[in-house]
Amino acid sequence: ARVVVLISGSGSNLQALLDATADPAYGARIVAVGADRDGIAGLDRAAAAGVPTFVDRIADHPTREDWDASLTAHVAAHQPDLVVSAGFLKLVGPRFLGAFGDRYLNTHNTLLPAFPGIHGPRDALAYGVKVTGATLFFVDAGMDTGPIVAQVAVPVCDDDDVETLTERIKEAERRQLVEQVGRLVREGWTITGRKVTIP
Ligand code: GRF
Repeated sequence: ARVVVLISGSGSNLQALLDATADPAYGARIVAVGADRDGIAGLDRAAAAGVPTFVDRIADHPTREDWDASLTAHVAAHQPDLVVSAGFLKLVGPRFLGAFGDRYLNTHNTLLPAFPGIHGPRDALAYGVKVTGATLFFVDAGMDTGPIVAQVAVPVCDDDDVETLTERIKEAERRQLVEQVGRLVREGWTITGRKVTIP
């Protein structure tokens, strides 16, 4: 299966996928990595793995709709079976969702629906929850609201700060992402309302 990965940062989730795809039995190939900004470590990781990259910045387009169309075209050019947002910090628009809405996965670093948005671990810590985790879901038009594929629980420790909690979540998150992307590409999936079925 052909997979396009979208990133905005360090790309440690991307790296876990790149490592997994080295084994042909995994069933997925990362055919391109896209970003909404330059100069991020994730783009270097892709280049080091010999994967083509592209950067599509909102600021380079007159409107967000133009960016949405451009991003859609960039991704479509690689004919992906699955698109994975791995720390891609932008909400895509209707054009992108029209093209990839049934095959656009995102990983979030809390147990949704609790603590959506870009400060999940910080918000979870501030709230005082004792368990949080990571959620893999298919993106819909909302922010972190789409149908859930899988979740993994991670304990919050008494002496955690945002950094230690974020790191503990990311370890579990990477394992879940690799496991579930492999499962999806090998076995396929259907989305019925909020229910994701993997045969
Ligand atoms: C992940 O924890 C994701 O949930 C969050 O940002 C992190 C991305 O990290 N939105 P990386 O770029 O894969 O290292």
